[in-house]
Amino acid sequence: MPPALRIRKATTADLPAVMAIEREQFSNPWSAEHFAAELTNRVAKFYVAESREIARLAGFLIFWRLGSELELHKIAIARACQRRGCGSCLLDFFIRAARSKNCQQALLEVRASNAPAIRLYEKYAFQCIGRRRDYYSSPVEDALVFRWLNDRLKID
Ligand SMILES: CC(C)(COP(=O)(O)OP(=O)(O)OC[C@H]1O[C@@H](n2cnc3c(N)ncnc32)[C@H](O)[C@@H]1OP(=O)(O)O)[C@@H](O)C(=O)NCCC(=O)NCCS
Repeated sequence: MPPALRIRKATTADLPAVMAIEREQFSNPWSAEHFAAELTNRVAKFYVAESREIARLAGFLIFWRLGSELELHKIAIARACQRRGCGSCLLDFFIRAARSKNCQQALLEVRASNAPAIRLYEKYAFQCIGRRRDYYSSPVEDALVFRWLNDRLKID
């Protein structure tokens, strides 16, 4: 069962906890300045998931809204909270945001070797639509491009 999660907008006060998860989970982490810039970026939506059980952040989510398209830039769950449905909660939140804004599609890139994330995206009907060779550094690796299509939108 996922822990009781509360998803809310991120604030400056969350950045130390976000950075701790970022450093724990990514080999090439974003800087604190990069995260701070997302808090004021007009197109960025930056959310954190608080766990009531452990009284700290379980994870975070950053996406951009560009017209009728969403770009998922970051989703991460603290190691201590993984495999308990928290990532699914955040991705479900993301899909509901896409539907509520009548977005046509959502796009993301993921390291080709990141099986946990790829399975999570596939669980939410994202489909792989391409590969960007040597897209990532530290270590160098291809990116897979995944797309989610809003099947509830009727396009004439
Ligand atoms: C990817 C990530 C967000 C998943 O978070 P999570 O809270 O563990 O995910 P959930 O418990 O909701 O699991 C959802 C699904 O993801 C898949 N999954 C998650 N962890 C997995 C693992 N270690 N191995 C295989 N599949 C995994 C499973 O399909 C799972 O569904 P299931 O439980 O029905 O089998 C988390 O592993 C993470 O933060 N990874 C590091 C950051 C990252 O890589 N982000 C994505 C960058 S593009």
